[in-house]
Order: sequence, then C-alpha cells, then structure tokens
Amino acid sequence: MKFIAHRGASGYCPENTLSAFQQALSMGAQALELDVQQTKDGELVVVHDADLKRVAGVLLKVGQSSYKDICDLDVGSWFHPRFSVERLPRLAQVLEFVSQGVELHLEIKQSRPTFSDIETRILGLVEYLGSHKRRIVISSFHHPTLRRLRQLDRKIRLGYLVGKTLWFKALREAVVLNCESIHVALRQASLSRVRQSHARGLKFLVYTVNTRRELAHVQGLGVDGVFTNYPDLEFENGKQKDSTADISRANL
Ligand code: G3P
Ligand code: MG
Repeated sequence: MKFIAHRGASGYCPENTLSAFQQALSMGAQALELDVQQTKDGELVVVHDADLKRVAGVLLKVGQSSYKDICDLDVGSWFHPRFSVERLPRLAQVLEFVSQGVELHLEIKQSRPTFSDIETRILGLVEYLGSHKRRIVISSFHHPTLRRLRQLDRKIRLGYLVGKTLWFKALREAVVLNCESIHVALRQASLSRVRQSHARGLKFLVYTVNTRRELAHVQGLGVDGVFTNYPDLEFENGKQKDSTADISRANL
C-alpha cells in the first residue's frame, strides 16, 4: 500500500508549502501530492483553492493575478504564526524533490475560465527532469485536461480523479486514457469498485485517509494507496488514532 502525503504533511504544516513537503519527506513519505494552478502570466504555482482567501487572507483569484501580485503573500500564518515565512511554492521548486527519490502526484486544479495551455507548461517542466520524469503522476477532476495531456504525451503517467462523474463512465474513460490509477473520495470507496478497477488494470487510490480506523477500512477493501495528511500514519502501530487526536495534532 502506497502512502501519499496529501498537500504534503498538511496535518503538521500549512498545506502545499515547502515546509509541508519537507516534513513529509522527513517522516519517510514515499510520495507527495500537490495542487497546481496557473497565474494569469503563466507561472505554475502550488495551491489548492481558486482564490487566496483561506491561506493568505486576501480575496485574489490565482488565475486572475500575476505571479508578482501573489508571490510575497504569507501562506503559512493561517496555520500557525511560526510558518509566517511560507510563500506560494512554484511548481519548479517542488519538482526538485524528485531527485530525493520521491514520487510526485501533481493534481491540476482547473478554474473557469480554464488555465490556458497549462498542460503544455507542466509537461515542459517535467521534461527537464530527465529520467526522474517517471516519478511524476498527473491527475485531475477535469477530464478534458487529462485528455489533452494524453494527446500531448502518450507515456506520461495519469491518474483519474472520479469526482462527480458516474462510476462506469469514469472507469471506461480511465481505461481509454490509459491512466494507471483511479482516485476516489473515502465515501466512494467500495469492494466492488476496487475489484472492477483491478479487473481493468487500474490501481485504486483513496483520499483522504487520516485515521487508523479509516486506514483499516480501506486496507480491508484492498486499495493500492491512500492520500493522507499524516504520512506517519503508515508507521503508527498499537493505539488507535482517532479524529480527536488528529485535531490536536493539526494544531501543533
Ligand atoms: O488528489 C487527491 C485529492 O487531493 C483530491 O482532492 O480537494 O484535496 O485536492 P483535493
Ligand atoms: Mg489535491
């Protein structure tokens, strides 16, 4: 079972920041997940929401701002004042982690209007990684984006985020696009879906699995991997970690 640090070790550090990724690596994470968007002047930045209200306290939309407008914003203090030095990472900075042997799950977040040619820009950056390119998996809830990526690169590893798409349509499309995995929310995971995915050669990944109880549940279903805010969940044994414990850890 693969453990993928969701937005880095986002239970311990502000999500999608260099601290969160470094923390995940120091906890032995094998893989990192991060969300990618594009500024209006074409810079690829690592951030989850379409605007910066939650992480920086300003109502600027990522896609309508230039990189210069947003690069100095503090995206760490919302989590804890000791993270006030955190700035929005550029994708290029996070890609450097592949040299440490970690797998990177790049999730493209699409907005309205969609980011112009984000697929080409991401593939262009990934190309610079040389042989490390094989450690990149690109996923999206926005399936036209996955179709475009497949048109542009017949070998790039793709993950299909199901979202609100009907299950059998999603399965069919994941196969047609030659995705290696299908990704679902915890509430969407079931034994029959795991089996149907495996029968089609797709790995089955689940987000977000943060407690021992949730982990035991999805392990019982035979899933191939989980996205977790607590990459050390993998190594915790013994006492059941419950959601109350998660909350206190998030406030570290
Ligand atoms: O890629 C898995 C997961 O990150 C998808 O949901 O909203 O956390 O990006 P979200
Ligand atoms: Mg994500």
